[in-house]
Amino acid sequence: MKQKSKRIIIKDRHKQLLSLIKDSWFKLFLAMLCMLVMAAANSAIPFLIKPVVDDIFINKDIAMLKLIPFAVIIIYFSLGSAMYGQEYLMNYVGQDIIRRLRNSLYGKIQDLPLSFFHKEKTGVLISRITNDVNIIKTMVSTAVTGSLRDCFTIIGLTTVIFYRDWKMALFAFIVLPVAFFPIVWLGRRVRKVTTGTQESMAELTSFLHETFAGNKIVKAFGMEEYEKHRFFKETLNLFKLELKAVAAKALSSPIMEFLGGIGIAFVIWYGGSQVIAGTSSPGTFFSFMGAVLMLYGPVKKLSKLNNVVQQGLAATDRIYDILEKESDIIEQKNPVAIKSGSHRVIFRNVFFKYDDQMVLKNINLDVRPGEILALVGMSGGGKTSLVNLIPRFYDVSKGAVLIDGTDIRQTSISSLRKQIAMVTQEPILFNDTIRNNIAYGNRNALNEDIERAAKAAYGYDFIQSFPDKFDTKIGELGSRLSGGEKQRICIARALLKDAPILMLDEATSSLDTESEMLVQKALENLMKGRTTFVIAHRLSTIGYANRIVVIIKGKIVEEGKHEELISLKKEYYKLYQSQFSNDKNVV
Ligand SMILES: Nc1ncnc2c1ncn2[C@@H]1O[C@H](COP(=O)(O)OP(=O)(O)O)[C@@H](O)[C@H]1O
Ligand SMILES: [Mg+2]
Repeated sequence: MKQKSKRIIIKDRHKQLLSLIKDSWFKLFLAMLCMLVMAAANSAIPFLIKPVVDDIFINKDIAMLKLIPFAVIIIYFSLGSAMYGQEYLMNYVGQDIIRRLRNSLYGKIQDLPLSFFHKEKTGVLISRITNDVNIIKTMVSTAVTGSLRDCFTIIGLTTVIFYRDWKMALFAFIVLPVAFFPIVWLGRRVRKVTTGTQESMAELTSFLHETFAGNKIVKAFGMEEYEKHRFFKETLNLFKLELKAVAAKALSSPIMEFLGGIGIAFVIWYGGSQVIAGTSSPGTFFSFMGAVLMLYGPVKKLSKLNNVVQQGLAATDRIYDILEKESDIIEQKNPVAIKSGSHRVIFRNVFFKYDDQMVLKNINLDVRPGEILALVGMSGGGKTSLVNLIPRFYDVSKGAVLIDGTDIRQTSISSLRKQIAMVTQEPILFNDTIRNNIAYGNRNALNEDIERAAKAAYGYDFIQSFPDKFDTKIGELGSRLSGGEKQRICIARALLKDAPILMLDEATSSLDTESEMLVQKALENLMKGRTTFVIAHRLSTIGYANRIVVIIKGKIVEEGKHEELISLKKEYYKLYQSQFSNDKNVV
């Protein structure tokens, strides 16, 4: 039963792929015409062998001597033109499919929730969009073209063969069904093995991505040789798998070759005896033989076609596995649009888990519009996870998060996210200019606004010190900036967004104490009138908070103002004490 439904899904996917091909029906139609011309031209050649042998060589017909070379030139000219047209058109269709598949894959992946990116390896996703899509292209442009062209040619040549001597033709064709079984079996094997190679290729891409992006650590820990060995192991694995695929693929040719040989041997024996007996002419024999020999190429190609198709279908499955992924962050049919303005955020009996373990347990919070809420606690307590629920990066496992009384699952995701400006724990920037990074999501921002945001984040001076100033490119993920510089650009980016809910996740942790104080001041100005969630690294920086919430192991254990919590002499006090004594040690 399960097997059956799986098969139906796979069929559906293949149908979808076919519908992609069908969209280019006119080009396909033209390509088909070209193929018909090619098939006709290819069949005309052996057909003409009979008049050449019988009329020119045996009967010495002068008219034919003039006519046939002329016909041959026309035939080859048509063959060439059709070949070009067919090649161009089919590649057009194939490349178009590549482009569209890549676009829909990228579009789909972009829209999938954050949890998807935490589960899938970046390299594997890259490999889907680069390698797998290419394999499908090969299937479409060589297999679809190949199969049609070869089928037409086979039909044309077969017609010639039967026309010349149908009895001999029937005998010669007996070998064909025998060839069918090994070819189908080999095709299956190729599919299985190439699935392995593609998976291994994806692993390799993933590995490359990681060890190049993290090369600093590789060098710092002297792990170059280790990583080289790991890479050599992967390539060896790939090498073995590729050879397995070759072993399966390469078998289909010799099988066809041998069976073809048997057919030809028979034709020579039978045809020769007919000519010797005088029941057939040499022209008929050579025409027949020519067609059989020419038939051999397209049949061989058709027998390899199964391999290409099997590889393509395996790639199709991997791609549709992603395309058919359902997002678990679902928007309602008629979502409530959140208007801009101050917002009240409520956590009501919120439980949350990533996998099995509850990371947040029964969180209840009511954050008034304009309130500044500080979240503190040891790392791993669940602070980042808690704020990630507000923009719906993840959905609660139980309970609800409400914004102005509306469950955020009822709201439109884009209007919700528009209300939130955030500085994430890891500064994430793109390989673009500083200006564009600050204006990310705000493409129409005025230069003066960008500069004002940079000034407020205490980034203006260091930006101005670069030769290209705001037009400085910052390298992949901001690799050319220091940690503190990156954080300040992230803060400027959040400032420019000017949203009513502000989330600062250890936003100033990479700054030195002095810059932290300065940036903190800027942030304090910014927080006014905004509902703010601050996750604080140093407790000394949250004096301005209206309320402090202590989160330990996913639970809110204490809540109140700084002095109240200190006088409680419990968790907050302990945290404060430990930082205080640490600071003293450092000084
Ligand atoms: N993407 C994730 N998948 C699975 N577990 C996670 C993920 N992110 C965080 N966790 C786990 O959730 C817990 C809380 O993490 P986090 O919210 O980042 O804590 P904090 O911000 O307080 O340091 C930790 O135990 C962490 O290991
Ligand atoms: Mg965190």
